[in-house]
Amino acid sequence: MRVLVLNGPNLNLLGTREPEVYGDTTLEELEALIEGWGSALGIETVFSQSNHEGELVDAIQSADGVDGLVINPGALTHTSRSIGDAISSVGLPAIEVHISNVRQREPWRAISLVGPSCVRTIFGRGIGGYQDALRHLQNRAVTSFETVAYGPHPDNVGDIRRPDGEVAGLVVLIHGGLWRQEYERDSTETLAIDLTGQGYVTWNVEYRRGQQGYWPAPAHDVVSAMDFIAREVPGMPTGIVGHSAGGHLGLWAAARRADDIRLLVGLAPITDVAAMAGAGAVGSRDAQRLLDSGAPPVVDLIEGRTLLVHGEEDEIVPVSQSTRLSTGSRIEVVTGMGHFPMLDPKREHWPLVVAELGKALV
Ligand code: DQA
Repeated sequence: MRVLVLNGPNLNLLGTREPEVYGDTTLEELEALIEGWGSALGIETVFSQSNHEGELVDAIQSADGVDGLVINPGALTHTSRSIGDAISSVGLPAIEVHISNVRQREPWRAISLVGPSCVRTIFGRGIGGYQDALRHLQNRAVTSFETVAYGPHPDNVGDIRRPDGEVAGLVVLIHGGLWRQEYERDSTETLAIDLTGQGYVTWNVEYRRGQQGYWPAPAHDVVSAMDFIAREVPGMPTGIVGHSAGGHLGLWAAARRADDIRLLVGLAPITDVAAMAGAGAVGSRDAQRLLDSGAPPVVDLIEGRTLLVHGEEDEIVPVSQSTRLSTGSRIEVVTGMGHFPMLDPKREHWPLVVAELGKALV
């Protein structure tokens, strides 16, 4: 796979330009990082940067022999119709990336004229957003999926992936990201693809987050998404895999649909929002917001049908968030593992998860 990475106006000044907003990595360093992220995924990357709208249009039009586009149009995001048109004209899958959280800055930055021509917008994840964009482009290319709405809000959607052969069951995936708006279901996509490859229908769920309602919006949405898929794919033995804050939502939803869920897998799950809020660490502010909007301080497990897997080195969600639930669940503490490797089906924890789903979903 070959991907063109395009950066627009003022991104040549990365490293010195408002470092408190955009960080201190220069464009040259960023491109070297992206090249490395690409080759780890088997993606060849080519780069271009321009401060001129027409030059960006030319670069898109002449993107020969590439399979996809990653574009940060800078401030042209908010004004340029011609860049969006150019993307639509060449028909390449394009991901719009913004380093900063454009939805929580000046209101005009929340408006994108380019976004409607792109298959996804990634914002507010720092330069890591470019890595996520590459991974998402690749994930889109490897399996087909259907994005289906389960409710009226734009975030009431999920991706259904169906296996080619016999169906072993249904797995609902719930992504994490501290209930913040900038983190979406692309993070659990690689796990969903792996599980579909192993014979499961997967339902990778989006839900309202952050400014769209801290609580009960995410919890309400996840339960609705589960009810929806039970109607859509009826009679399936069902499991849930939730990562981080998605583990919290998974536990919440599983308790409400306990008769239907054969196994809840929490990957580095948050189970104690109150402890998280009080810890004064990453996520404490988010946890406090959740509590302030009425979330229960702790979530419980479904006895005998819960598997929690947690990296000992997790610096975002401490392992105590899992080990506190030592009765009624199986807990696997993985030595030498942090928070995000949990999302990689090539890592050592994953065969256990697949084996346990296989035993439970019969
Ligand atoms: C940006 C956000 C834009 O609003 C801004 O004009 C930029 C950079 C970002 O990466 O966060 O130039 O696209």
